[in-house]
Amino acid sequence: MDKYLQIENVGMTFEKRGVRFEALRDIGLAVKQGEFVSLIGHSGCGKSTLLNLVAGLLRPSDGFLLLANKEISGPGPERGVVFQNHSLLPWLTCAGNVHLAVERVFGASESKAELALRTRKALELVGLAHAADKHPEEISGGMKQRVGIARALAMEPKVLLLDEPFGALDALTRANLQDELMAIVAKTGSTVVMVTHDVDEAVLLSDRIVMMTNGPAATIGGVLEVDIPKPRERLALATNPRYIDCRREVLEFLYQRQAKKAA
Ligand SMILES: Nc1ncnc2c1ncn2[C@@H]1O[C@H](COP(=O)(O)OP(=O)(O)O)[C@@H](O)[C@H]1O
Ligand SMILES: [Mg+2]
Repeated sequence: MDKYLQIENVGMTFEKRGVRFEALRDIGLAVKQGEFVSLIGHSGCGKSTLLNLVAGLLRPSDGFLLLANKEISGPGPERGVVFQNHSLLPWLTCAGNVHLAVERVFGASESKAELALRTRKALELVGLAHAADKHPEEISGGMKQRVGIARALAMEPKVLLLDEPFGALDALTRANLQDELMAIVAKTGSTVVMVTHDVDEAVLLSDRIVMMTNGPAATIGGVLEVDIPKPRERLALATNPRYIDCRREVLEFLYQRQAKKAA
């Protein structure tokens, strides 16, 4: 489906104590089923706002959003969200955190054993079966982020929404998780919308990179097709001329065309 996720003329104005702030204006984007799209732009340009609109956590002030031709009017199990700061419940184990999401989506239709199996499979998928019984405070940042991804994947979402999922991690952990994410998405065929401000991450993972202008009234300044065949291999990419071109194009957008208000 060419227009699986449709964002049509979307605008978002926040209103706080009578003060209006126009964060997004006239956003138009269509995402194909199975496509991996990144949203990139400077801090504060409205990336999270746009992702939250797709998640159904915010309603647009203008325009509309459709998923498989149905209006997005709230959060739904077909859209799994991973936030930047691993939002795990501290009083539950890793398995407990994943199980909660599994129960919410499949609890009415499946047996206890089936739910437990889903939870275990999701933790295995992110390489965390061994940490199932640990609490969030007992595991590293990278592992917490993995649990967040497992929780989203366990819901078998059609669309995975990632808000700077690796932003808070060191470079090595980040690279490992990017590789894992590539493998998981190749296996599940999920449609992905990922917010990032990391140019290399965007080029490595994406089919298309949506480049956002600075706010207020941020909009889409350009869309770059990353026509590098998949699976992609981190080391081989370093010398791939197309990779270098894509990277330069995004860097030019961010640091020349959108440079002035970069904070
Ligand atoms: N609930 C809100 N109320 C008022 N302003 C908001 C709200 N959420 C975000 N904003 C503003 O909208 C702009 C975009 O924010 P955000 O989407 O978080 O940017 P990004 O994720 O690109 O860093 C910022 O100027 C931010 O201050
Ligand atoms: Mg953000």
